[in-house]
Amino acid sequence: MKNRKGIILAGGSATRLYPLTLAISKQIMPVYDKPMIYYPLSVFMEANIREILIISTPRDILVFKELLGDGQKWGMKFSYKVQQEPKGLAEAFILGEEFIGNDNVAMILGDNMFYGNNLCKILKRANLREEEATIFGYYVKDPKAYGVVEIDKEGNAVSIEEKPENPKSHYAVPGLYFYTNEVVEIAKRVKPSKRNELEITSINEEYMKQGKLKVEKLGRAMTWFDTGTHDSLLATASFVQTIEKRQGMQICCPEEIAYKKEWITKEELSNLADRFIKTDYGKYLKELSENELSD
Ligand code: G1P
Repeated sequence: MKNRKGIILAGGSATRLYPLTLAISKQIMPVYDKPMIYYPLSVFMEANIREILIISTPRDILVFKELLGDGQKWGMKFSYKVQQEPKGLAEAFILGEEFIGNDNVAMILGDNMFYGNNLCKILKRANLREEEATIFGYYVKDPKAYGVVEIDKEGNAVSIEEKPENPKSHYAVPGLYFYTNEVVEIAKRVKPSKRNELEITSINEEYMKQGKLKVEKLGRAMTWFDTGTHDSLLATASFVQTIEKRQGMQICCPEEIAYKKEWITKEELSNLADRFIKTDYGKYLKELSENELSD
């Protein structure tokens, strides 16, 4: 199987979260008990993507380096790249050209959170598709604020539009994209949109023209949040708190995923836990390292 690398885009000025983000990055904000970027990062981990490029602003990149390091503590490999100005999502593949090399690549937005039973299966299917691109479709009441995709019975995209006035379907496109290696060349050909950004939707349009854009529907039992406004940030945090308290299990906990995938040992997990032992998060990791693994 072709190797697939991952890019987390954690840039932008997050003006919709002002004044929260006047001095710090949106993707470092707390979502209940962990920094926002842990959530998209966990999605890549579940997809077995271990080599990750984190793209952020000149101001914020150091904070991510401090938080995540080189990835070794979780059996992963992280590298970093600065996006000088917020020129659009598609620029990530130009900035990431060297990192991507000859591999396939996935990208996730640093403020997108996914949760649900079927996620692993869906990610696996997307990962196995080596010659086509995969995006996702999530039914929402009002998709105007998103990329919107129309899907045929075979799961092919038949139209895709960025923030349309009159959406042709209810399927919003979440910020998670699986591409072939050609995405780098496609991104270089993208022209800036009306809002002067290199749109990810332009990349998707190109794959669609080539008949290579598959859409995986995320069913109604899946949860997708983008945490870009005050209300959605709080709603996501409340959701995480509710489920974690009820089940006593963590949502999107990188240490747990790394351990379950055997990327780190019991001893390494226990050492990571010691650092946070005053918190429920640390206690949870400690218990995990002391007990037999469950589902
Ligand atoms: C971006 C994409 C859009 C996608 C959304 C998901 O929108 O351009 O297609 O649906 O992320 O979060 P933006 O965050 O730039 O408004």
